[in-house]
Amino acid sequence: MRLLVMGGTAFVGRAIVEDALTRGYEVTTVNRGRTGADVDGVKALRGDRSTDDGLRELEGRTFDAVVDPGGMVPAHVLRTARALVDAAPFYAFVSTTAVYQSWDAPRVDESAATWPGVADEDGDPADLTRLGVRKRGCELAVEQTYGPDSVIARAGMVVGPHDNIGQLPWWLTRTARGGRVLAPGNPDRGLQLIDARDLAAFVLDQVEARAGGVHNVVPDEPNTTMGRLVDDCVRATGADATPVWMDEGFLFSQGVQPWAELPLWIPDGPATAGFWSVSAAGATARGLRTRPFAESVHDTWAWLRTLDTAPTMPPGLDTRKEQRVLAEWAAN
Ligand SMILES: NC(=O)c1ccc[n+]([C@@H]2O[C@H](COP(=O)([O-])OP(=O)(O)OC[C@H]3O[C@@H](n4cnc5c(N)ncnc54)[C@H](OP(=O)(O)O)[C@@H]3O)[C@@H](O)[C@H]2O)c1
Repeated sequence: MRLLVMGGTAFVGRAIVEDALTRGYEVTTVNRGRTGADVDGVKALRGDRSTDDGLRELEGRTFDAVVDPGGMVPAHVLRTARALVDAAPFYAFVSTTAVYQSWDAPRVDESAATWPGVADEDGDPADLTRLGVRKRGCELAVEQTYGPDSVIARAGMVVGPHDNIGQLPWWLTRTARGGRVLAPGNPDRGLQLIDARDLAAFVLDQVEARAGGVHNVVPDEPNTTMGRLVDDCVRATGADATPVWMDEGFLFSQGVQPWAELPLWIPDGPATAGFWSVSAAGATARGLRTRPFAESVHDTWAWLRTLDTAPTMPPGLDTRKEQRVLAEWAAN
């Protein structure tokens, strides 16, 4: 298999490259050389798909398939797909479940209404305010160019080593500091978190089988709970940390922000009933396998410990604010 990976130096793309090399594929990557080092063993090309002539390096080359893990701007994906449609017969794109408009019902599947994306919309890749619209536009760019010879993998929240969003790394780093840890809401609330390595394996399996389609890629059922996640973080870090679970009403009264201050905390409510209840029946039927979540926690902590500087993470809850809220809770 001669595989072209667009990007391939950060998180999901890196996992795809590593898996592909393990499978014995000949892997070529294209990136600007800014985000990270190319994985050893790839043929690394330089290119910038945000510019009209940025993919010149690809001219005259052919591949068996393209994997595009990090496309964020429809016009860049459209440019890439058009540049490759005669050079590679199959295109795999990593999208997101953020393309769905509504989370008020459980078992959100691939037929659910998506945001109306536009295949040639241009813009700043760093602008995540319209992520769902943008990623839907990217999907359309691939579908319009490659039709059935494409697979769209709509990933849920991704975890694992090299995480460049930092939700699980935030919880690991917080629990590693020890002490009483503010823990949000219902500890039994289920979460669906997909390890980047399982996402990578699924995508490459589809590429190998030339199996087109659109798939949600998450564990089909919740693979952990908020409570188990915090406990796994305590276990992995070996910290002397004790979670203090607080109900959501109290946290709101203290001005604590879901997600931004406490990553992965989505408050319970009618509008979020389906957020951690995505159907991955289609991907499961196509062979998606997911590892135990505790393994993702363990491996992410092992990776974090190899780093000289902290990775990208949400700022999360300020230490003084956490102490204030813990004190208020204890006084109640
Ligand atoms: N993290 C999550 O929870 C989550 C959830 C759902 C979906 N996803 C999806 O998963 C994907 C994650 O992507 P990733 O960052 O892990 O992919 P990646 O392929 O590992 O990294 C992004 C790559 O794109 C390259 N790149 C950026 N701008 C470029 C340009 N103009 N021209 C050429 N190359 C460029 C970067 O290198 P240079 O900067 O050096 O060019 C880098 O190699 C995204 O599609 C995201 O929507 C993530």
